[in-house]
Amino acid sequence: MSDQDLVIRDLHVAPTAKPDHEILKGIDLTVRQGEVHAIMGPNGSGKTTLAYALMGHPAYIVKSGQVLWHGQDLLKLSADKRARLGMFLAFQYPMAIPGLSVASLLRSAINARRAGLESDPNVDHTDAFKGGIPMGEFRKLVREKMALLKMDESIAARYVNEGFSGGEKKRLEMLQMAVLEPEMAILDETDSGLDIDALRIVAEGVNAMLNPNMGVLVITHYQRLLNYITPDAVHVLAAGRIILSGGKDLALRLEAEGYAPILAAAGLETEVGDEAPETADATAGAAASPAAVGSASSGATR
Ligand SMILES: Nc1ncnc2c1ncn2[C@@H]1O[C@H](COP(=O)(O)OP(=O)(O)O)[C@@H](O)[C@H]1O
Ligand SMILES: [Mg+2]
Repeated sequence: MSDQDLVIRDLHVAPTAKPDHEILKGIDLTVRQGEVHAIMGPNGSGKTTLAYALMGHPAYIVKSGQVLWHGQDLLKLSADKRARLGMFLAFQYPMAIPGLSVASLLRSAINARRAGLESDPNVDHTDAFKGGIPMGEFRKLVREKMALLKMDESIAARYVNEGFSGGEKKRLEMLQMAVLEPEMAILDETDSGLDIDALRIVAEGVNAMLNPNMGVLVITHYQRLLNYITPDAVHVLAAGRIILSGGKDLALRLEAEGYAPILAAAGLETEVGDEAPETADATAGAAASPAAVGSASSGATR
């Protein structure tokens, strides 16, 4: 086991508002450095809860279990420190921040990340002369990453997510990820609202950034994202537990069969599981992509 592996052991998580009501009932998962793991599951199975618990969202409390990252007990660190240790969460629904430009957001995020865990009193990462990223280097980095993500440079001057289309919001999430160069990226892409263009933006962004130092946890209700991002492992989350793990074939099996047979085999009720993973938001836009046409039509036949 390396320090660069994310190791989750018997993780139990409840909402802070209802601490006796566990959503995650014992998650065990190891994402090794450079691996891409997908977590799939029916709506309400706890996928977003897992993403938020890993990032330290205050709405969730960890009842028991352990998460190791960089040799540290991740759960003891603030959300801010987790980010400084190279964890990144792409939000399902990014917020608008009127008055804050994209450029300022990126610059403070980079400086915070560079400051690392222990701040050196002689270095002030908010100041370009005392260790913050110099303006020239910042511009070069952002230009390079925008080109990678095929983004228009004019976005840098706009306020964060204000008046952004769904696709632009997703691209900005990917841009943040690109400039921060995380070592563990958690992408929560569940539920509705992601049209095929947004899916492809996410997928192309991730694929362009994949490298042997970055682990990725792709959290998704829909198999079709995995038409674009090839996972090393796929895990099915249901009723707060991982009930089945496998290779990328498992995602294809879910696409064909839906969740019901797997839930039934695990002895779980199938009231949420008999929907096909693909049907809920197969949009007209799906016709734009040959791969998506296959997914959308197999969902529609159910
Ligand atoms: N903050 C919360 N307070 C109370 N219940 C919650 C909270 N967050 C999630 N839940 C419940 O926990 C379950 C799992 O939610 P979630 O993690 O969002 O599932 P998923 O992302 O897989 O759809 C759902 O039944 C949801 O209603
Ligand atoms: Mg969710």
